[in-house]
Amino acid sequence: MNKIIPYGRQNITQEDLDAVIQALVGDYLTQGPIIKQFEEAFANYVGSKYAVALANGTAALHLSALALSIKPGDKVITTSLTFSASANCIRYCGGEVVFVDIDPATFLIDIDKVETLLKNSPAGSYKGIIPVDFAGRPVNLERLQKVANDYGLWIIEDACHAPGASFEDSNGEFQNSGNGKFADLAIFSFHPVKHIATGEGGMITTNSFGLYNKLLSLRSHGITRDQSRFKNSIIQAGGNSSDSIYPGWYMEMQELGYNYRITDFQCALGISQLKRANLDLEIRRQIAKRYDIAFQNKKGLLSPSLEIDSNFKDNHAYHLYVLLVEDRLGLYNHLKVNGIFSQIHYYPVHLMPYYRSFGWKENDLPSVEDYYSRCISLPMYPTLTEDEQDFVISTILNYYK
Ligand SMILES: Cc1ncc(COP(=O)(O)O)c(C=O)c1O
Repeated sequence: MNKIIPYGRQNITQEDLDAVIQALVGDYLTQGPIIKQFEEAFANYVGSKYAVALANGTAALHLSALALSIKPGDKVITTSLTFSASANCIRYCGGEVVFVDIDPATFLIDIDKVETLLKNSPAGSYKGIIPVDFAGRPVNLERLQKVANDYGLWIIEDACHAPGASFEDSNGEFQNSGNGKFADLAIFSFHPVKHIATGEGGMITTNSFGLYNKLLSLRSHGITRDQSRFKNSIIQAGGNSSDSIYPGWYMEMQELGYNYRITDFQCALGISQLKRANLDLEIRRQIAKRYDIAFQNKKGLLSPSLEIDSNFKDNHAYHLYVLLVEDRLGLYNHLKVNGIFSQIHYYPVHLMPYYRSFGWKENDLPSVEDYYSRCISLPMYPTLTEDEQDFVISTILNYYK
């Protein structure tokens, strides 16, 4: 096969292009009505009450951390098996990152270990927890929320890998990632390798009206145009003492915010992509099934998506398809020579030089470190053809022959 096969890539259709062009020739490039349309469509997709679209997933994490008032020295729990932004948002606010190991069967934060940590710490030691729906497998948030509630912690679900994922709760109902039922806030990214691509882009979903308004303010410099919330008087704003309304131009900066806005033409692309989200998710699941069957019980290979806890039913969204393998470097290079560009997700965040500088070191999180020594992410995206899938499968099986 001559074509290069990446591990992930965006899919831009003619409909996407038409939607973006229409937005580009419209009245607003940014701060226009398409942003709200995307937010409403996305909230509807995941089943949350509110959604706030942002410049990227990292901005979504930063604003979530601010909205939940992380202060210098506050301890927040997260996983080391993630993109570093999940932890960095705690540091942006001066908080202390406490990594908890993963469950080796699911690769998700080990809820038993979270509970043990909280049980053995003085009351009030921890403020919150940021679980990650790694690879697209949803965290059992119902269980995690019970633990968090017992110790007064908030939850930010990092659902960047998991739009469309769901899990079955104790009432037998399926709960979508990011629907806000078991977490205060959830965040998503629309980077090109993600399920929905807007170039750069992100979203926060929530069911809290208070947090929603706070996020809208923080997204745009802490400025409000809502006169019912103004703090300065009409006269201070430049109006006359006889006026009952503020001057038309007046707006007020009430807190320190940022410019984390997304543009209208990116949101037009997001809306267009969202229309295919269920179809694309189905294709990802079909590809995963083919990989599962091909790699089942093969020497040197363990196919993690078969390792589902029988007491917990979930619908994986397959942002990534991860294999655990022997001789990972050899396989990675063998694939590369054959034009298949696999990836490794992730080098453990606690072993990054920045986090080592806080004292984190080898053997602190044995399950994450063991996972890292064997993991490899295979090509997984909706336009990966069956021939390409077969080529990936045969190239891997040949290596272990
Ligand atoms: C789990 C996770 N969290 C956060 C982010 C940050 O998103 P963005 O790249 O849009 O800033 C990513 C994206 O790579 C991610 O995979």
